This record gives sequence, C-alpha cells and structure tokens, in this order.
Amino acid sequence: MPSDDDRPWWQGAVVYQIYPRSFADADGDGVGDLEGIRSRLDHLSWLGVDAIWLSPFFRSPMADFGYDVSDYCDVDPLFGTLEDFDRLVADCHDRGIKVVIDWVPNHSSDQHPWFQDARSSRDAAHRDWYVWREPTPDGAPPNNWVAAFSEAEPAWTLDEATGQWYLHLFLPDQPDLNWDHPEVEAAMHDVLRFWLDRGVDGFRADVLHAIGKDPDLPDDAEELIPIPHSGLNHVPEVTLPRLRRIRELLDSYDGDRMVVGEVYLLDTALVAQYYDDGRGIHLSFNFPPLYAPWDAGVWRHRVDEVERLITPAGWPTWVLSNHDNIRHRSRYTSEERARAAVFLTVGLQGTPFLYAGEELGLEDAVVPPERVVDPGGRDGCRAPIPWTPAPDHGWGPEPWLPWPPHADAGRDAETLRADEGSILHLYRRLLAARRASPAMVAGGQRVLDDTPDGVLAWERTAGDDRRVVAVCFAAAPAELALAGDWVVEVTSTGAGEGEPFTGSLDPDSAVVLRPA
Ligand code: NOJ
Repeated sequence: MPSDDDRPWWQGAVVYQIYPRSFADADGDGVGDLEGIRSRLDHLSWLGVDAIWLSPFFRSPMADFGYDVSDYCDVDPLFGTLEDFDRLVADCHDRGIKVVIDWVPNHSSDQHPWFQDARSSRDAAHRDWYVWREPTPDGAPPNNWVAAFSEAEPAWTLDEATGQWYLHLFLPDQPDLNWDHPEVEAAMHDVLRFWLDRGVDGFRADVLHAIGKDPDLPDDAEELIPIPHSGLNHVPEVTLPRLRRIRELLDSYDGDRMVVGEVYLLDTALVAQYYDDGRGIHLSFNFPPLYAPWDAGVWRHRVDEVERLITPAGWPTWVLSNHDNIRHRSRYTSEERARAAVFLTVGLQGTPFLYAGEELGLEDAVVPPERVVDPGGRDGCRAPIPWTPAPDHGWGPEPWLPWPPHADAGRDAETLRADEGSILHLYRRLLAARRASPAMVAGGQRVLDDTPDGVLAWERTAGDDRRVVAVCFAAAPAELALAGDWVVEVTSTGAGEGEPFTGSLDPDSAVVLRPA
C-alpha cells in the first residue's frame, strides 16, 4: 500500500456529487447555478468532504438536463459563466476541495454544431463524426438496439433529409459520436485539455463503456431485448485502447488528475476490466451494490465480489445514491437504515461517492404528473436541496422541481445543523472519524466470518491502526462477539459513542469501533 504521501488524492477522498440544477440558486430563477454552489461551500467544508463532482453545467438545450451538450467548452448561461466556474474552482482549491466535472464523450446534443453540420449533407465535413447507416430494404432500423428512456424504441432515428439512420443510445436529441473517427477522439481530448488547463482535478466520464462499439454493430441477443444497448455495450478490445490514451493524457498533467468511469454494466466482473491493470481508468463506478436490497447476505456477496474482482484490478468505489436512481433513503425505507447505510459507502475499502442531500436524509420528492420533466422518470431524486426552513428554503421563487418530503417540517440543512442528533451530524462525525484513521481512509480490509445472521462486519487495518465496522441489517438486536476490547467511535444511532463496545447492535444500525 502506498504511504499517505504517495497515495493519489482520489484514493483517500470522499467525493460529493452536486447536481447543479438542484443544489443552490444564487440568481433566483428557480434553477441552481455555479454561484449558488460557491455560496454553499461552507456546508461542504463543515461536513468534511474532500472533493466535489459537478454534473454537467455546459451549454445544452437540456433535453437530458445537460447530458446533451451543445458546447463542451462553455458554461450554459443558466448556470453562469466561465468566470463563475474559475471562481468556484479557486474557492474550492483554497479550501482543499478537489473539483471533478462531468465529461460526456459518448454523445453530443443534436444541436451541437458538429451534428448540425453532420446532418446537413452526406458529404459534410462532420458527417462521419456520428454513426450513420443506410436504410434496410424493409425500412427497419439498422439493428435491434434499444434506446434508453424508451419503451423498447430503436436506438436509431431516420434523418429524412439525408436518407440515413443515425445512432443514439439515449434520446434522438443525443446522437452518438463516432469514436472510430480519429478527429472525434482528438476533439474530445481537446475538451479534456480545456478543463485540465482550467484546473479541474478529474472527470466523471458518462457511459464510458459505450465509446467503443463493435464495428459490425451486431444485433443484441433477442433474450436481452428490451434492455437498452447502453447497459449492454461491452467491447473491451475497442474501448480499452481509447481509455489508455485518456489515461495517458490525464497522467501527463501533474496533480494526479483522475477519471472515474460511469461503467453502467451490472456485472462487477465486466466493470473490473475497465481498470485494465492500471492502464485504464483510475476509478470505475460499480452499480450492483447500489441495487442491493437491505440484506446482509446480499451485501456480503457484493463486497466479496468487489474484493475478488475489483481490488486486484484497481481501487474500488462505493455509491448508494445519484441523480439517476431513487435515493437510498427512499429505497431502504427508513432513516435508521439510511444512517446505517452510509457506514457501507464510507467504511468499506474504496472511494465513497455521496450524493448531495443524502447527508440530510432526503427522500425522493413525489412529483405530480403535471410537474414531470425528465424523459427518464428521475425527477424525484433531483428535487432541490432545502437549505433553510419554510417557506422558501433558501431558494427565492418556486424551484424547477417540488421539494423533497418534510422540507417544511425541519428536513432542511439549517434545522438539522442545529440538532446534534441529526443524520447531518452523523455524516460529519463519520467523515471526521474516517479522515482521522489511516485504516479507514485506505487500509486493507477483511470481512469477518463469525458474525450473527443479519450482520456484516469487517476489519480495516493500516500498520498499527485498526477499526472494525459493523452493519446490522436485522430487524432485531444482534450480538457481535469480537476478540479483544473495543470502544464505540461512531454509531448510526448516536448512542454510546466513546464508551466500551458491549457487543450489542441495534436493529438497522451500524458502528465504527476502535481498539480500547
Ligand atoms: C448517464 C447519466 O448519469 C444520465 O443522467 C444520462 O441521462 C445518461 N448517462 C446519458 O448521458
């Protein structure tokens, strides 16, 4: 294991995802912005996160709320300006917070000048920057790939004017870039350089596993339809050389610039391949644990898989909530479980990714049909962050989505900060305990075998530093027998911290223990 000084920052960091539309609104238009984020950095410093990841803030028609980029090198006016961005990065760096931004390499917006040119004629300079195919004799799309956010609709749209189909793994407004074309790769590397030169510390790369496609574009297996092709595309022989070149570019900068891939393949063995023995991406999301139910056995299986498949390949990541999925507070149905669940993301070996608002115990908003805006049905987890008590929660006018439940009943950052027993304070204590322990930050890990049903416990070690983390998924109290004497450092319930560990675990609870 590298020493503290040699370890790249992204191995020890707790990363906090910000969905800019929903975080904080400085200009009062009901949509969050970069200045809003800057105005809330105190919250992040107080909480103790090491890095932020900003979901897209680039120029965009917003068909997919920014994941449809029409200019990769500018800030959408909705979110501010490049100067606002530079100020935000400078302020974060002054506070010791790293800045990771989203990079959307698989597709652009259909309004991007590249696609506008590409669709203007078959001879256009940018025609081959996208993926075009001739119509088939029977008028069917070129293959059976299904687009995301659709009821089994084709991942192809016929461009009437030029008489060919173009590929889009997501909305028709998001045509796939053709990474087989060297100019596309060069242009997307230029985008990376543009932001690296502005000082960003890393990228979260959107659907990164999809930038390499089988050149024959073969049908997906019939039994897998209607799974969208974006969840199936896995062509490592094409993709990995591209990832190596991305890594070389980032590694040519100083400061351990990092790329974390959104490898949305629900198979940890496949995800592991994208680390490519240290030559591929620095980190990869691994989503199977995000879909694990509140069940010790399933979680044990997921942790074992990560130890067996990811750890030999690279450094793991852990995530339970993001802007694409129902928040884990809602999925796991209670605040007790949400409090215990963060001991998994923050306590297991790897880089934790937290999603803004989870530290407030936010549930998904209930979005009435007339306020639904997302084509993928993900509005609930994107509800705005309530900063202050009712009525405006620190936002001014009505924000673009409804508030999460209980925002008017004390579920806001200011109220929770005034309450030392709140989930917000638990997150802060847990992050502080993690930061203070080399074992927790980047130590080795051993899952304990002799644990009662319903309990998952593991030991973290770095030199002399040791911790045990235990999560009780059971609905009844459990007894955890450990060799030696232990002190409760942090508990999800807040009870008994600093006292000797008695062995007793509350239902739906978690603890961090240190040797007595
Ligand atoms: C994954 C992103 O997280 C999601 O929000 C987006 O809709 C798709 N990729 C398409 O870019």
